[in-house]
Amino acid sequence: MKGEAALPQLGFSEIRAELERVALELGLSNGAFEPTFERNEFTLRCALEEVDESLLLDTITIAKKHLENWRIHNADKNYLSLQALNDNIFSTEGVLDNIRIRIGAFYNEKTLEISRKGTLRPAELSLITALLRRAFGRPRVRDVLAELAAVGCGVYRPDDDMPEIAGFRRLREKLRETIVLPLKNPEVYERIARATRNNTVRNHPRAVLFAGPPGTGKTTMARFLGKEAGFPVVHVPLENILSAYYGESSRRLAWIFDLAQAAGFPLILFIDEIDALAPSRNEKLFEATRRLLSVLLRKLDGLGSLTTSVTIGATNRPQDLDAALLSRFESILEFSEPDEEDARELIAFYAKQLTAEENTELARQCAGLPVRAIRDICLRAERMLARQKIENPTSPLPDAPTLEDYLRSLADYRAHR
Ligand SMILES: Nc1ncnc2c1ncn2[C@@H]1O[C@H](COP(=O)(O)OP(=O)(O)OP(=O)(O)O)[C@@H](O)[C@H]1O
Ligand SMILES: [Mg+2]
Repeated sequence: MKGEAALPQLGFSEIRAELERVALELGLSNGAFEPTFERNEFTLRCALEEVDESLLLDTITIAKKHLENWRIHNADKNYLSLQALNDNIFSTEGVLDNIRIRIGAFYNEKTLEISRKGTLRPAELSLITALLRRAFGRPRVRDVLAELAAVGCGVYRPDDDMPEIAGFRRLREKLRETIVLPLKNPEVYERIARATRNNTVRNHPRAVLFAGPPGTGKTTMARFLGKEAGFPVVHVPLENILSAYYGESSRRLAWIFDLAQAAGFPLILFIDEIDALAPSRNEKLFEATRRLLSVLLRKLDGLGSLTTSVTIGATNRPQDLDAALLSRFESILEFSEPDEEDARELIAFYAKQLTAEENTELARQCAGLPVRAIRDICLRAERMLARQKIENPTSPLPDAPTLEDYLRSLADYRAHR
């Protein structure tokens, strides 16, 4: 132990200041890494959100880089314990006083614990900070999203201009329960899974299908969910991927899922018009779509408990989907034309100037039309009014369309269908 005594030892306040600095750098609260120094023993213990094999392997790599002599004390799939040896590796005297790293599931939760008798050497402090940076540093939100955008995905961040929507309360309630709540509170679901089954099989869906006729709000709702949940929506450009070179398309789709997996935060992966992968009679196309489909099936299975991301598929033709694909969707949400109450809310949204009676009258006449049609009818009435204003600048026209204007627009719509 002669050599060791000669090395500089760090003071506790110095160590503490350095750990505070790292917490700050990682965007964590002050005190996130609060070491203790009791009975001449240094201990740093912190809770981890996630422990996976790659974190354990990286811990070994980091230890290798900073420590000369050490051994793995214990290792399994989700637990690793490392112990530094004496400078003279043949001496076992007081060996357990050296720095020890334990990482994984213990103390009933995922924990990183570093302890050492006495205080730290500079190399040991660098080891600790490297480990903390690895365990607590997340990939930057912008980077993964930028990479997804670079491979052709439409990326909608929750702070972007997300659509405002109206109506469909029952559907929205269901979506909240199926998608929004699990995305926002994964730990609650995980705790329940643990309490019921001693494992962490996901108890909330990883894939949901939006099924319904054209113009019933599937695409709009997917984007809106990102806003509600506070996570990005990534629009997977299936058409675009399908038209890529043979072989390239399945690689691109796989890469999109891998990126989503690596994001370190939940994403809503939205695959619009997923029926593009429906079995086709065209042999050549079929081969390409079949490969793409098999990648998708594999990736949907792979999005296991590792991530809380959710994949949403949307289709007008659920009945045409491949059976294996259809079975991956744990929840199928039906989109349909608004009922009268929805129609009233939609009209209040698109034509707020109408009185309650006018609203009810228009809603009654619009019943059974898809939301897209209602929206188009309302916006068309606005354009008709604008044109009149431009062509007759002196005539006293109202600021906004009247019920009659909307009814005319509706009649036009019906006439041209
Ligand atoms: N809840 C809503 N409130 C207000 N406007 C809506 C709502 N849902 C959809 N819209 C509007 O209706 C239009 C059509 O909706 P959307 O494109 O989402 O339908 P879709 O089901 O994806 O159709 P398709 O099957 O043809 O792709 C959009 O322009 C959107 O602005
Ligand atoms: Mg759509």
